[in-house]
Amino acid sequence: MRKIEFHDREKELKEVRNLLDAEPSLITFIYGPINSGKTALINHLIEQLPEDYVVFYINLRTKILASYDDFIESLFEMELTTDLTSRKRRETLKELISSVTRVTGIPITREFMDYVFQDNKPKNAFSYMIKLFEEVRASGKQPVLVLDEFQKIGDVNVDGTLIYELFNFFIDLTKEQHLCHVFAVSSDSLFIERVYSEAMLEGRCRYLLVDDFDEAATKAFLVRHGFTEAEKALTWEYCGGKPVCLIELVNSESRENKAKEMCRIRKGQIDQRIRVLKIVSKKILFEEETIDLKYDHITKILEVFLDEESYAYEVITPEIAYLVKANILFVDPVSGIIKPQSRLNLLAIREVMKGDN
Ligand SMILES: Nc1ncnc2c1ncn2[C@@H]1O[C@H](COP(=O)(O)OP(=O)(O)OP(=O)(O)O)[C@@H](O)[C@H]1O
Ligand SMILES: [Mg+2]
Repeated sequence: MRKIEFHDREKELKEVRNLLDAEPSLITFIYGPINSGKTALINHLIEQLPEDYVVFYINLRTKILASYDDFIESLFEMELTTDLTSRKRRETLKELISSVTRVTGIPITREFMDYVFQDNKPKNAFSYMIKLFEEVRASGKQPVLVLDEFQKIGDVNVDGTLIYELFNFFIDLTKEQHLCHVFAVSSDSLFIERVYSEAMLEGRCRYLLVDDFDEAATKAFLVRHGFTEAEKALTWEYCGGKPVCLIELVNSESRENKAKEMCRIRKGQIDQRIRVLKIVSKKILFEEETIDLKYDHITKILEVFLDEESYAYEVITPEIAYLVKANILFVDPVSGIIKPQSRLNLLAIREVMKGDN
C-alpha cells in the first residue's frame, strides 16, 4: 500500500512550536478552508512533540452533541482508567496521568465521573480538568488541550450556550493561570467569523490560518511523487495546493482525465445548488431571521470570481453565508477576504457563471 508522507508545513509548525515553547497565554484558533490539512498538521505536530508535553486531543467530528451528557462523554475517556497490563484500577489523578503523553480524551475515573455528571453544569467538569492539568504540571510536564471540529460545541445548550462557559474556561487556563495550552481547530469559517467578532475573546486569543499549500510547496510535493513538468502545471491549474486533491492525482492512472473529471463533477454540483434557486424559493436562517435567497443575488457574488481569485468583503450577507455553508466559498475574517474553498471550486464557479451569461 502506498503511503503519503507528511509534507512541508514548516512555517506553520514553527509557529506552533514557538507558541508551545512559551508559557500558555492566549487561546489559539486554527482555521482554514475545508480539507486544507489542519488535522494532519496537528497530528503530525503531536507525534513530533517531546515527551514532556502531555497532549489531550479530542476530535468532535463523529460525536453527536445534543445534550450536556453528550458533551461530557465526548471529552472524557473512561477506558484509560484501567491499567491493561495489571488490570488494576487507577484511582488517583497521579496514577491516571503517570503513563500518558498523547491521549484522545481526558482520562477520568468512575468516581470523578459521578462528580462531573452530577448537576448538568460544566463547572465540575472544568474544575476536574484543572486538577488533572495541575497534576500534569506537578509531574514536570506541560499539558496541551486540542479540540478539533470545535464548532460542534456551538450546538450544545446548557442554561444558555455552553460555548461561552467553555471560552471562559479556556481564558482561565491560558491568560489567567498559564496552566495549559489550548488549540481550537475548525473549518467552519462562519463559526470562526462569529468567534472573531466575539467581544469576550478580544485580546484573549490568536488565529493561525492553515491554508492549502502555496505553489512552491505544491510543486515540491508533486516532484516527490514523480510528476512531469506538464503534470505539475496541469495539477496546479486544476487543484491548486489542496492536499486531498493532490493525493487523488498522485493515485490516478490518468492525471489529466482525473483533474478534468473532478472539475466537471464540482461544476455539476455547484450548478445544481445555484440553479435550484430559480425553481424553488429557499430560505436561510440568518441572525435569527428567516431570509429568502434570490438567485440573482447569489450569482452577483459568484460573478466577481470570473476575474478575481478572492476579494475583500464588507459584510457577510445571507447569500455569502449560503455559499459558505454549501462549502463553495471560504470566508477569512482575519484578513477580511472571501474566496472559493479551493482552486477546483474557483474553476467550477467560473464554468457555471460562463454558462449563465
Ligand atoms: N501536510 C500534509 N502532507 C501530506 N498529506 C496531507 C497534508 N495535509 C493534509 N494531508 C492529507 O490531506 C487530507 C485532508 O487533510 P485534513 O483532514 O488534515 O484536512 P482538514 O483541514 O483537517 O479537513 P477538515 O476541513 O475536514 O477538517 C488527509 O488525507 C491528509 O492526510
Ligand atoms: Mg480536520
